[in-house]
Amino acid sequence: MKSNSKATQCVHSGSIVDPITKGAVTPIYTSTAYDYIDVDIHAYPRYFNTPNQRVVSEKLAALENGERAIIFGSGMAAISTVLFALLRQGDHAIFQNDLYGGTHHAITKEMEKYGIEYTLVDGIEVSSYEKAIKPNTRLLYIETPSNPLLKIIDIRAMANLAKTNNMVSVIDNTFASPINQNPIDLGIDVVVHSGTKYLGGHSDICCGIAVSSNDLGQQIWESAIHFGGSLNAQMCYLLERSLKTLALRVNQQNSNAQTISEFLASHSKVNKVYYPGLINHEGHELAKSQMSGFGGMLSFEVKTDPDKFVKTLRMIKPAMSLGGIESTITSPPQTSHSKISAEERAKVGISDYLLRLSVGIEDVNDLINDLDQALNHEQ
Ligand SMILES: Cc1ncc(COP(=O)(O)O)c(C=O)c1O
Repeated sequence: MKSNSKATQCVHSGSIVDPITKGAVTPIYTSTAYDYIDVDIHAYPRYFNTPNQRVVSEKLAALENGERAIIFGSGMAAISTVLFALLRQGDHAIFQNDLYGGTHHAITKEMEKYGIEYTLVDGIEVSSYEKAIKPNTRLLYIETPSNPLLKIIDIRAMANLAKTNNMVSVIDNTFASPINQNPIDLGIDVVVHSGTKYLGGHSDICCGIAVSSNDLGQQIWESAIHFGGSLNAQMCYLLERSLKTLALRVNQQNSNAQTISEFLASHSKVNKVYYPGLINHEGHELAKSQMSGFGGMLSFEVKTDPDKFVKTLRMIKPAMSLGGIESTITSPPQTSHSKISAEERAKVGISDYLLRLSVGIEDVNDLINDLDQALNHEQ
């Protein structure tokens, strides 16, 4: 029975019943050598079509309301494969400037080598993206909520801009997760994720996902088998297992992040809080119109020494990744945005006092107590 409920899709979409025992969970098919006689498909791990790859693809296609999902060995494998599958020499692509640093580097270091032109657009105004369109523009790429200031871009307007100008639209949906935001429903063509974050959710899997229509999926797949960034059966199984609790985890993270952002917004040692669930966040109304939850990511500026603050935390762990069940904190000026000059950072609103919190599923009172003791600690 098919369900449109994300919680049910997390548990039931795309699993294989063990033909020998009829056990409750998908068996792990580790083979890299499959029969080619009298079979429907020629299975091979780098073709993204072995049993564990197929079941987890089916679950993710259902969760993102797409037709086809391809699972990769990392988020960057998914992103680079999508870009180089859909762009040709002589094409032009438009990217939001405010992207995950690794994607930004991939664009600036790789595109020109292959004769692909690009424009990085500042800000979130649709008109700025429209101005960047050239006769050879084929692709528009965005990320919302953005990192680290949680800016919200109008997904419907961007998808529409792409459609009316013959571009493929691509969105990185990592920060929101498919529980909070389904961009394909809003008109986006391709959704990519770093599955290393919320989809894996336990800080122990590195993977990536691209979800789209069957037609675009076929195009992406035809390049993907050449680039070879597939994920092995054991990791696919672990991802499938993690996805069963995605809705539970993300809903708890949404709720914890809302409570924590309200606590921080009223704290005397905090300057500013960036969280789309706060009514004074500039993208709050837009977020309400395109997200079903505001997510587990928030940023805030402390009035105290940010390094000492982080070192004083007892439960919240300093870590560069995000989306895990444990709460983690990072300093964007020292990590993701360290290669950008202090002046540039200041121009886009990233102060040296800014910290980015990935809220976990712990008891929210414990998290608040930890933040409070570190904020009030003698500096
Ligand atoms: C928003 C976003 N997109 C893509 C990536 C790249 O994913 P991966 O590290 O799995 O290659 C990351 C990694 O931090 C990310 O935060």
